[in-house]
Amino acid sequence: MAELVLTKHRGVKDIERIDVYEQFGGYEALTKALKEMQPAEVTDMVIKSNLRGRGGAGFPAGRKWSFLPKDPALDKHLLCNADEGTPGAFNNRLLMEFNPHQLIEGCIITSYAIGARYSFILVRGEYELARKRLEAAVEEAYAKNYLGQNIMGSAYSLDLLVQRGAGSYEVGEETALIECMEGSRGQPRQRPPFPAIKGLYQKPTVVNNVETICNVPHIVKNGAEWFLGIGAPNCPGTKVFSISGNVKNPENYEAPMGTTFRELIELAGGMQDAAHPLKALMLGAEPPILPASLQDTPADVDSVAKVGSALGAGAMIVLDDRQCIIDMTLRATEFFAHESCGKCTPCREGCPWMAKILERIEHGLGRMEDIDLLADICANIAGKSLCALGEFATGPVASSVKYFREDYERHIAGYACRLPKELAEVGA
Ligand SMILES: Cc1cc2nc3c(=O)[nH]c(=O)nc-3n(C[C@H](O)[C@H](O)[C@H](O)COP(=O)(O)O)c2cc1C
Ligand code: SF4
Repeated sequence: MAELVLTKHRGVKDIERIDVYEQFGGYEALTKALKEMQPAEVTDMVIKSNLRGRGGAGFPAGRKWSFLPKDPALDKHLLCNADEGTPGAFNNRLLMEFNPHQLIEGCIITSYAIGARYSFILVRGEYELARKRLEAAVEEAYAKNYLGQNIMGSAYSLDLLVQRGAGSYEVGEETALIECMEGSRGQPRQRPPFPAIKGLYQKPTVVNNVETICNVPHIVKNGAEWFLGIGAPNCPGTKVFSISGNVKNPENYEAPMGTTFRELIELAGGMQDAAHPLKALMLGAEPPILPASLQDTPADVDSVAKVGSALGAGAMIVLDDRQCIIDMTLRATEFFAHESCGKCTPCREGCPWMAKILERIEHGLGRMEDIDLLADICANIAGKSLCALGEFATGPVASSVKYFREDYERHIAGYACRLPKELAEVGA
């Protein structure tokens, strides 16, 4: 059994309470950082550990922190991205609900490293329990002087605010998150300037994902070498995978980065029904769909990118041969059409257009030329939109056309929603 890091104390009664968290070594990393390390040393340690962002892009966290201006007179902010909106991802929710102090300790250490005086956690609007637990934990942390003026007698002071989002996938995009935090409509900003230069309230800002920040206390406590010893060579540590769909035990599972998708399915109890083998994997709604033939790919940022998809937020929707790829692609595309903020034309117009075409194919009303039309629309959205949502919307469409063209052709030929096996059964 691989070493658990972030979910090690899952199941410990009342771990969300500060006294219980402390009994299990909680806030020891903060004590070490404040008493034994300079902020730059914390950043250096995280750079050495090669902690890659868990929010989707896999950007090295320590390097991101190092982009902030060093001037101590300048206000800086940490904004923790707890907006988790990717379909099929529910790992941030688990981390916040079962052990909110792990995240808060990570936020305090990260804020210390970057020199932030004020920090923020923007929590997805629907995550009521997570927000309540975080707010209660923040109150406890103030009472123990892990937050507030001169933390634990040091020269460092920090205030941390938990803010409820309004419930939107697009708000997870870092500049939209900043807009939302400022009270504006959650739409992306033009970049540059990047948040590291002008972010929240026009101040240099680091935006990091919940799981990224939860790793920080463990790295500070155990060292960069320890972290580098877990997971994949270029993508160390563990990942909490949200595994759902046609597996026996859908749940969150923590596993070392680089565990193969086949092994992750086994971790979730195996396929739901042995008579129905794996057809495809959706790593959320946005990354390109992977066919079953790629299930031995190691689940880490670079290995998944190498086979043309993306690890994303760690969602893994397992589809067996009873599932219709066109239907799944349609659902993902409808999601993007709904979530598109409408600020730029290719995404605003292209997403609903693709959904409309997929819907007619799904209902047996498609035309053969629709397949190339979909590919053409994808080419006109990707790389031509203001934020990555446009690009994301093309992931399931382009990949399903690439790997499952036959399914499209069958639907269009009049066998809508009939999978090859079922067609064979009725002699089609
Ligand atoms: C449409 C869209 C939605 C996103 N949603 C999230 C999200 O829910 N949570 C998240 O951490 N990052 C999300 N991101 C990525 C963020 O923009 C940002 O890269 C991330 O929070 C950085 O954190 P990390 O470096 O720790 O991974 C999203 C990006 C896009 C384009
Ligand atoms: S790509 Fe879509 S979500 Fe992003 S700014 Fe443009 S319209 Fe809005």
